[in-house]
Amino acid sequence: MSQPVNFMSSNQLRQAFIDFFVSKGHTHVPSSSLIPHDDPTLLFTNAGMNQFKDTFLGLEQRDYNRAVTSQKCVRAGGKHNDLDNVGYTARHNTFFEMLGNFSFGDYFKESAIPFAWEFLTSKNWLGLDADKLYVTIYESDDEAFDIWNKKIGLAPERIIRIGDNKGAPYQSDNFWMMGDTGPCGPCSEIFYDHGPEVEGGLPGTPEEDGDRYIEIWNCVFMQYNRQKDGSMEKLPKPSVDTGMGLGRISAIMQGVHGNYEVDVFVNLMNAAAKIIGINNNQQPSLKVIADHIRAVSFLIADGVIPSNEGRGYVLRRIIRRAVRHGNKLGANENFFNKMVAPLVKEMGEAYPQLVEHQSHIENAIEKEETQFAKTLAQGLRLLSTELESLQTGDTLSGEAAFKLYDTYGFPLDLTADITREKGISIDEASFEEQMQAQRDRARDAGKFDVDYTALINVQKPTEFLGYQQLSEANSNIISIYQEGKPLGSLTEGQEGVIVLDKTPFYAEGGGQAGELGEIHTASGVFKVQNTKKSGQAIIHYGVVTMGAVSASQTADAQVESTVRVNSAKNHSATHLLHASLRNVLGDGVSQKGSLVTSNVLRFDFSLDRPVSIEELVKIERMVNEQVLANTQAQAQTMPIDEAMAKGAMALFGEKYGDNVRVLTMGTVDSDDKPFSIELCGGLHVNRTGDIGLFKIVSESGIAAGVRRIEALTGINAIKFVQEGEAQLQILAGNLKAKRPEIADRVQAMADKQRDLEKQLERLQQKLASSQAASLIEQITLVNEVPVLMATVSGIDGKSIRPLMDDLKSKKPEAVIILVGDKDGKTGGQLALACSVAKQLTSQIKAGDIIRHLATELGGKGGGKPDYAQGGATKPDGFEQIMQNLNTWIAEQLS
Ligand code: SER
Repeated sequence: MSQPVNFMSSNQLRQAFIDFFVSKGHTHVPSSSLIPHDDPTLLFTNAGMNQFKDTFLGLEQRDYNRAVTSQKCVRAGGKHNDLDNVGYTARHNTFFEMLGNFSFGDYFKESAIPFAWEFLTSKNWLGLDADKLYVTIYESDDEAFDIWNKKIGLAPERIIRIGDNKGAPYQSDNFWMMGDTGPCGPCSEIFYDHGPEVEGGLPGTPEEDGDRYIEIWNCVFMQYNRQKDGSMEKLPKPSVDTGMGLGRISAIMQGVHGNYEVDVFVNLMNAAAKIIGINNNQQPSLKVIADHIRAVSFLIADGVIPSNEGRGYVLRRIIRRAVRHGNKLGANENFFNKMVAPLVKEMGEAYPQLVEHQSHIENAIEKEETQFAKTLAQGLRLLSTELESLQTGDTLSGEAAFKLYDTYGFPLDLTADITREKGISIDEASFEEQMQAQRDRARDAGKFDVDYTALINVQKPTEFLGYQQLSEANSNIISIYQEGKPLGSLTEGQEGVIVLDKTPFYAEGGGQAGELGEIHTASGVFKVQNTKKSGQAIIHYGVVTMGAVSASQTADAQVESTVRVNSAKNHSATHLLHASLRNVLGDGVSQKGSLVTSNVLRFDFSLDRPVSIEELVKIERMVNEQVLANTQAQAQTMPIDEAMAKGAMALFGEKYGDNVRVLTMGTVDSDDKPFSIELCGGLHVNRTGDIGLFKIVSESGIAAGVRRIEALTGINAIKFVQEGEAQLQILAGNLKAKRPEIADRVQAMADKQRDLEKQLERLQQKLASSQAASLIEQITLVNEVPVLMATVSGIDGKSIRPLMDDLKSKKPEAVIILVGDKDGKTGGQLALACSVAKQLTSQIKAGDIIRHLATELGGKGGGKPDYAQGGATKPDGFEQIMQNLNTWIAEQLS
């Protein structure tokens, strides 16, 4: 393929897009994490607009109203899922970068369309041939039609109207929705014609799925907030959200027809061919591998790890799909992890987190490969046997698909990927039925459908004074809410929410819990029980404990100081713990969550094994060394790029503005780097010495690959240590041992106890065996069947089984019924057991005998035809019941 005149690399294109929109007054905002922050409606970040969702909804104000981004996206699960298409079309990727420009209530269609057109066709920018471009609009969007037709001058036949082609109102390729709820609106898509040598038709034609006309840019005119019931609520201001896949536009600018022919992919596919050891680098499976290594590596870098639920399960599915494709190409050892290095070479410069986490990503993939390798070959064998008897157009049974899933770890889409190659579908309904139990866990992925829209819609940011002060006498009540509805005042006993213009209260966030305190006005007292954020506003939850409080009153807001001080200790200790963990366990450890309250701190992090006691000691000591160093904790606000350049740790899934607060603590190393440097808006101690003492109280696993440490600080830590000390003291006294001897002494006692238990067991067996010998003599023949029915003293539920085993070995052809009567008293406990020789079970069953006997005795029991057990309280008339049983058995055997 000859190079087009204006050839551009993927890196150049990304930059040109940003430069163009910056020149049009847009602020360049960095990509957010692939794990959407605090948005339960979303599995992964799947569009550039995700990080601006609250801004579109009017819940959050930004310093700018025009933005441009290059956003990492994954579409593999959830509403926008392209996983199954990868390898089959030229244009689908699971991971991709989306270039986008955004207007938050500023410009609308009249500018969004000309911007896109200028960037694509102007000789100063991409200079594409306008004759190669087509557009679609939502059927009823005459406004967009007129802009394309009159303002841009596009001929009407190049403007295609698309209605509700997915079967319901607003279900259209030209009506874009982020998910089942959230911002949405009609859109206009721009298509590029790759020429007649490629198969495919214009949008709206039956051939539209081909690769000739490729959608390159989607301009969404955000107008509504879709509610759970499907109704459309108008957004505060019409806005714009556009998205252009970097891969697709790169293909055009590099004179090729598909995403997989652009620079990044060619290099990745060559690398894969080399690693696997094949010469043909055009195999479709290489596309799958090249695509999947991007999704997998970026997901792991953003903190996801393979698991059996939610996001982790989607990651597992992608890895396994890639491994299977490698296997298809002949890879017979772990190869996929070796793709990380070539990816880092391609994309590490634009995404430094790949470089930073390279070894962690490689290890996580290799582990998953090793695990899957154990069952892959067997699973494939089973599947090929199943497929032998099927032909194109047939269906694979749900049972087989389930077995592959359950026993061999084949996710359904992996099996489908294989059967699809043979034109065979899967009986998914029956698969689903069989998966009922497992689905409960996997259903976590479907949990992402909760309505998100806050009921309380406060537009104005609250001024937060809490970094400097604990109280503010000159606050004003801006509004009062009850159950989401605004109201004028709250009176004694009423619960509600108060919003102030400025407040010293910290709103729950960054792992730190909300605060407690009081808000006083001239007429009443409101007890603050929690504080949260709604958009940019801080809201105080609580109850009026005296008089009444009204909107627009002046208020004296007072934070409860002990809670504040203790939370600050815990929060600062969390930072020191985070840094110590990475110091001791390596940089692969990333934060998975944290909770800071005034009582305790909790820190979750990724690690696929328990932390050893030695490591915990080291970590705890390291934190305490920093406490003792008593350095000043310093907070500084700076642009995010500067913070990153200083090595500040940005937290997992967190959403940051352009200017961030950077918190540094601890001693400084020889490179001038402080012990801890994190982006954090929370409240901290003045000096590390204020923490007093740091004590880890537990370390445990909370999910596959995720560990949790709980710890205490200050007086709570001291109390914990003292309690432990006191217990040791008591223990030493009881054991009559010196403190250092306690562990050995307890171990010795445990060993001794085990020996004694073994001895006891041996004795019981001996006893049983000697009893057995005399019991055998009591066997009588009932209708020629040897039957032993005996009540034995000193035997309970535990010792009855060895006795029975002994009797059975001596007389295998008998029916044996034993009643263990340990203490021989009426009202005492009876143990019942029955064994029936296998060959007799068609005549009489042990389960039936025990059920019968237990019922007569007023107890419970049951079991199998050849062995059953039960229990009862020894009743009056016990002997009579046993005699009756004799008769009953005779009847059964007659
Ligand atoms: N949100 C739209 C999309 O993802 C445009 O960015 O297609």
